[in-house]
Amino acid sequence: MNYPDELMFLKNRKMPMTFSTVSLQGKTIVLTGATSGIGRVTALKLAEGGANLILVARNPKLANHVKEEIQRSFNVGVNIVLADFRDLDEVHQAADQILSMTDPIDGLIHCAGMHSTQATWTKAGHETVFCVNHLASFALTCRLLPLLKASAPSRILNINSEGHRFNGLDLNDLTWKKRHYTGLRGYGASKTAQLLTTWEFADRLEGSRVTINAMHPGDVKSNIGQNNGFLYRLFSKWVIQPMLNDPIVSAKAIYSLMADPSLADVSRRFYHLVIEEIPAKHAMNRQLSPKIFEISCRLTGIDPITLERTENE
Ligand SMILES: NC(=O)c1ccc[n+]([C@@H]2O[C@H](COP(=O)([O-])OP(=O)(O)OC[C@H]3O[C@@H](n4cnc5c(N)ncnc54)[C@H](OP(=O)(O)O)[C@@H]3O)[C@@H](O)[C@H]2O)c1
Repeated sequence: MNYPDELMFLKNRKMPMTFSTVSLQGKTIVLTGATSGIGRVTALKLAEGGANLILVARNPKLANHVKEEIQRSFNVGVNIVLADFRDLDEVHQAADQILSMTDPIDGLIHCAGMHSTQATWTKAGHETVFCVNHLASFALTCRLLPLLKASAPSRILNINSEGHRFNGLDLNDLTWKKRHYTGLRGYGASKTAQLLTTWEFADRLEGSRVTINAMHPGDVKSNIGQNNGFLYRLFSKWVIQPMLNDPIVSAKAIYSLMADPSLADVSRRFYHLVIEEIPAKHAMNRQLSPKIFEISCRLTGIDPITLERTENE
């Protein structure tokens, strides 16, 4: 059966795939979201491949638990850097801490993410899902770029989602004060913004040997959505989760995209696990992408030219 581009994900999710197992021995990878779901299994997979890890997490107890789990089985370095992504100051502090560690970093994987059925706002006034899924990863990427460039070849991977297809991005109402919020559209807005800025980063990184790509990590069991109400959690537990796959498939795909030597210079791509796919049209809009990039700079206290932290922040 021939699928239109917009529906290729329905085919790709069933395609047989092969995953790279090339060693990451001695590489250092910064990973967010490692305390649960896809991120936790990915941390173990990266450690199995020999990578040292810097885990950026908000919950020290959970982060230490994952660190111990990794170090029980693998002889790799694991550092923990704390930041709650609802607070962009904490993201900047985490970046400062990573930059002060002085070691090269070979990869940055943005796995932290959330889904909320209700609109809520951070103390700085950002819609929370937009802040956690997009603004925090955007700011961390900008701040770590000098180190990633100095460590090149290096790779940035945004764990995005087919959920970007729900769109919801409106530059005139990023805080959802003028529109009715739904969980899918709020999630779609955050993932669309992340994709649009991925293409802008890729342009700016041309020739630097720092690549940036995004991927859908499969439809897998995790704790996403557990922040929502009782009915949602009940529905998720008994209806959604039983249909989902084991997150090891996500971990293998993420590992592949970070390790596969044939991808060393491949940038500006969207993958469904390891299969390249065309994102939705709205997420490829190159008139919109510089605008959301600039807005993201402003909202995160980043200078749009240098991509350094602005002095008054
Ligand atoms: N599961 C899927 O089928 C699926 C499909 C498409 C895309 N994704 C994407 O995959 C990524 C991982 O999701 P998951 O399914 O593995 O969900 P998960 O089990 O809920 O894990 C989410 C991770 O993000 C962290 N996080 C959430 N809010 C944070 C905050 N305010 N500050 C810092 N860290 C925060 C969580 O930390 P805590 O442990 O402290 O809560 C956790 O480590 C997300 O970007 C998600 O959008 C997942």
